[in-house]
Amino acid sequence: MPATPEPQTPDDQIDAFRADVLAGLAAAIPAVPARWLYDRTGSELFDAITRLPTYYPTRTETALLETVMPEIAARVPKGLAVVEFGAGSATKTPILLEAVAPSAYVPVDISGDYLEDSAAALDKDFHALKVIPVVADFARPFALPEAIAGTQKLGFFPGSTIGNFVPRTATDLLRHFRELLGTGALLLIGMDRAKPVERLLAAYDDPQGVTARFNLNLLERINRELDGTIPLDAFRHEARWNDILSRIEMHLVALRDVEFTVAGQPFAFREGASIHSENSHKYERRGARLLLLAGGWTPLAEWSDPADDFALVLAEAQPNRSAP
Ligand code: AVI
Repeated sequence: MPATPEPQTPDDQIDAFRADVLAGLAAAIPAVPARWLYDRTGSELFDAITRLPTYYPTRTETALLETVMPEIAARVPKGLAVVEFGAGSATKTPILLEAVAPSAYVPVDISGDYLEDSAAALDKDFHALKVIPVVADFARPFALPEAIAGTQKLGFFPGSTIGNFVPRTATDLLRHFRELLGTGALLLIGMDRAKPVERLLAAYDDPQGVTARFNLNLLERINRELDGTIPLDAFRHEARWNDILSRIEMHLVALRDVEFTVAGQPFAFREGASIHSENSHKYERRGARLLLLAGGWTPLAEWSDPADDFALVLAEAQPNRSAP
């Protein structure tokens, strides 16, 4: 990852979206990076997903945070700056902020308006806390606010969002977090565990159809923002378990032969062909630790719920040395 922060204006965003979609739809295995699922509608639909009975990760992680927060807080010095990768959740973030009493809270999210709303809500509840939202794609280089330069950082990356990155990119991302947060930084990260396939499929293909709407919103967004002509009724949502890669995959599967244009470029999909729109990797204990180690973080402690459905790992930034 380049070291220099790049500006991320709305124009940059739309250019990046167009480039990803045009290249992704033309690829031998058509795919669009999952980050484009999260426009305002996508973020709201994802919020709705987190409340679904079959979507266990959010409930499980929130309860786990509540239970083990005193143990986490005991390992985290007071007064550091919490940098959350993502806009923050109205339930999870306050649990952390109350327990670790940071001097500043910096949520980083690509979706500016959603970020402003959630940061404003937090500002109301934590009067003394400096809340400094940063609008950026946290997976790309960006700068932290000057106001927290010189303050020890705690990165917070809940929700098992790390699972949405393939291991190679996840490792790059963790290394980028380490560079960004600096020497002495800590990271509290949520990671979802592998579990029986039926439970995973139910979590990613709910009977209410909310996840289907979330996935199909990607096509609506392409039509709206990239001048697309994709017939929405020609695609359906599908969740698949890929056992060898230990991940849930979301696909948009063509229900019939279909032709459309995006930004003036023609595309054709045969019935049954799919656009791969998201991965959600599930990690066993050792796999989770290994990923962190490869990303430059040494696990210090790990907690999971009694069923071992979901884990929280506290890790510290590895120093720059090449000991054996
Ligand atoms: C944001 N992320 C952790 C969710 C997940 O579980 O991988 C995204 C999601 N996609 C469909 N349902 C939830």
